[in-house]
Amino acid sequence: MSDRFVSLTDLTLSYGSTIAVPKLNLDITEGELIALLGPSGCGKTTSMRAIAGLLAPTSGRIEIDGADVTRTPANKRGIGLVFQSYALFPHLSAFENVAFGLRLQKLPEAQIRAKTEAGMATVGLTGFETRKPGEMSGGQQQRLALARSLVMEPKVLLLDEPLSNLDARLRLEMRNELQRVQKDTGITMVFVTHDQSEALALADRIVLMKDGQIEQLGTPAQLYAEPASAFAADFMGFENIFRTEGSDLVSDSGRLPLGYAAPEPILAWRPGGVAVGTGPHQGRVLASSFAGGHREYVLDSPLGQIKADAPIDTPEVPLGDMIAFDLPRATARPLAA
Ligand SMILES: Nc1ncnc2c1ncn2[C@@H]1O[C@H](COP(=O)(O)OP(=O)(O)O)[C@@H](O)[C@H]1O
Ligand SMILES: [Mg+2]
Repeated sequence: MSDRFVSLTDLTLSYGSTIAVPKLNLDITEGELIALLGPSGCGKTTSMRAIAGLLAPTSGRIEIDGADVTRTPANKRGIGLVFQSYALFPHLSAFENVAFGLRLQKLPEAQIRAKTEAGMATVGLTGFETRKPGEMSGGQQQRLALARSLVMEPKVLLLDEPLSNLDARLRLEMRNELQRVQKDTGITMVFVTHDQSEALALADRIVLMKDGQIEQLGTPAQLYAEPASAFAADFMGFENIFRTEGSDLVSDSGRLPLGYAAPEPILAWRPGGVAVGTGPHQGRVLASSFAGGHREYVLDSPLGQIKADAPIDTPEVPLGDMIAFDLPRATARPLAA
């Protein structure tokens, strides 16, 4: 199994004179599901278009399965694409939508039938063969789009925000479905999302991107527990990020004594890592919302706003009242400047 199944070397991608992605270097392992994660505009789609052959690189090299495909046309790269919009043919049945690419290849009818039926079974759409896309739910249409790509047996499947048009529940369902299909077929998948929970749930590895560059690359567990920068920490849900000076936290609003020497120039806490109802500091409750297993508070503090989660079995503190809190060393993520 190649750990350079897809390999991007010094890949620079531009629109006119604007460089969207400068010198991207990334190796993708055969059979892995890798997620490109990052805010809107960070270059995820641009990178995917280059891998697919829809955007010619300004410089650099793209290899797939050992071959240099930098100048290979899109239809010769063995790449499948699934987008947010399903781009299905509305006048064709589900079966014919999936069979479409196979028919272009002029395969014998029996093979087309067998591959199409297998593809529809893989995504759980057996029985839907005669439906038109307009007679199917959003989730079913997205699965159809997935089947249409899978039957072409691509070396790599690129998925660009494929779940963002689905409602929250379907999104979760399709997330599991995608993971299952990937494990069943063993196909290498590059999955683009701006949703960190989606990337954490799905990916074998996450590439966190910022301004066209890789900010951090690691397993979901690594990015979740050990974000390497304030940007990564912020993206991974450390909503309280402050600079340190000696044993103080400082912000534009003020400062707060930590009670211990700060180990790094920046410290970050998840809302769940802030202690509430106990501790040396006082904050005023600006907002309070029930979140099932916990209560989410927004506190006004000398540092500005602090987001803190309290266990649901502690008494609710009314808006405007003061509440004690602590920013414990134990739950702090120390970050270099
Ligand atoms: N067709 C285009 N022409 C000019 N600039 C573009 C074009 N498409 C994207 N960009 C720019 O390239 C950068 C990366 O965009 P994109 O790859 O679409 O980001 P993402 O998919 O991460 O949201 C952005 O600054 C965006 O404005
Ligand atoms: Mg995009």
